[in-house]
Amino acid sequence: MTFNDDLKRELTAIRRQIHRYPELGGREFRTAGLVERTLRSWGIPSRRLTPTGIVAVMPGRGRCVALRADMDALPLAEDPARPYASRNPGAMHACGHDAHVAMLLGAARILSRKKRPAGTVKFFFQPNEEGAGGAKSMISKGAMDRPKVDAVFGLHVNPRLPAGTVGVKAGPVMAAVDRFEISVLGKGGHAAYPHEGRDALFIASEIVVALQSVVSRDLDPVEPAVLTVGTFNSGTGFNILAGTAVLTGTVRTLSEKAHGRIPCVMRRIVHGICRAHGARAGIKYERIGSVLRNSRALAELARDEAVRLFGPRRVRRLESPSMGGEDFSEYLRRAPGCFIYIGTAGRNPDSRLPWHHPRFDIDESALPAGSELLARLAESSLGHLKR
Ligand code: NI
Repeated sequence: MTFNDDLKRELTAIRRQIHRYPELGGREFRTAGLVERTLRSWGIPSRRLTPTGIVAVMPGRGRCVALRADMDALPLAEDPARPYASRNPGAMHACGHDAHVAMLLGAARILSRKKRPAGTVKFFFQPNEEGAGGAKSMISKGAMDRPKVDAVFGLHVNPRLPAGTVGVKAGPVMAAVDRFEISVLGKGGHAAYPHEGRDALFIASEIVVALQSVVSRDLDPVEPAVLTVGTFNSGTGFNILAGTAVLTGTVRTLSEKAHGRIPCVMRRIVHGICRAHGARAGIKYERIGSVLRNSRALAELARDEAVRLFGPRRVRRLESPSMGGEDFSEYLRRAPGCFIYIGTAGRNPDSRLPWHHPRFDIDESALPAGSELLARLAESSLGHLKR
């Protein structure tokens, strides 16, 4: 058995083990334990930075590069057909973070067998990406300092690309993520006498419809943006006039200009409609994550290295960004880096299902490819930064 066969077997076993016991954001205790034990068995030291966040370090002279994997699962019931299906009811690895952990461990294994790289390599095993807050917690505990990280890379599985194919894009890759909550304060009463109250459900309905004009009428049409109302809660009975209504939703943007403008327009519309109907509104608007923007130079480097490793036919330049969010952007606010997709679509039809699907799966042949790419990126970016 060669090292590569062994690695493939080991990574598959690790990924399935994590897949079997998915843990929601901030509660990745079992996963973190597995990561620590695996690193220890390979002689790689690591420490807990947050209750479930881990940093492993391979020290060297000179510059420092970080590789990151997220570890959390989703609150989703897995369609339990496969032998490694989730045994934690209501939790599932439906975004491939189980694979990310396995691939990063594989990269550590590959690098640990080589002679010392030309600098320090840090490995971030990050909690709670889905809830957003995991990257911030790692950074606030000093993940990017001592030694200061000069470049950072992360991988995400992608069911739209064939297994082992690499997708790279320079510039903006994923959107800034905001969350809002709108409360409409009307006046309750009897459903038969609406004129004596202020029907919050009706007013909120008008707001839901009017908010659709923010993107279509208030933004430059060539500016990508999404505004989605995700929840609408109002009313307690069929014959009761609703006194309050609460809407929550998300805004996604790719530019600072749109990011700054949308909440102002939303306030104008919400307060305007409420005033027109004699009701009041409360608006909470939070910025959860910023635009994930890849460095041009490091995206180029990632592309070149992927071509060298896998050949030009297994490397794609991605044209358009996605309006999804990813808290890898937090690291990129502190150091240049590149977030890369690795294809996981194979013969198994479940491996071609979209992210967050209850039967989401991956073609595991992509695992060693992901590890090789991460290891190579660490080495070559250290060589590159030295110059
Ligand atoms: Ni994900």
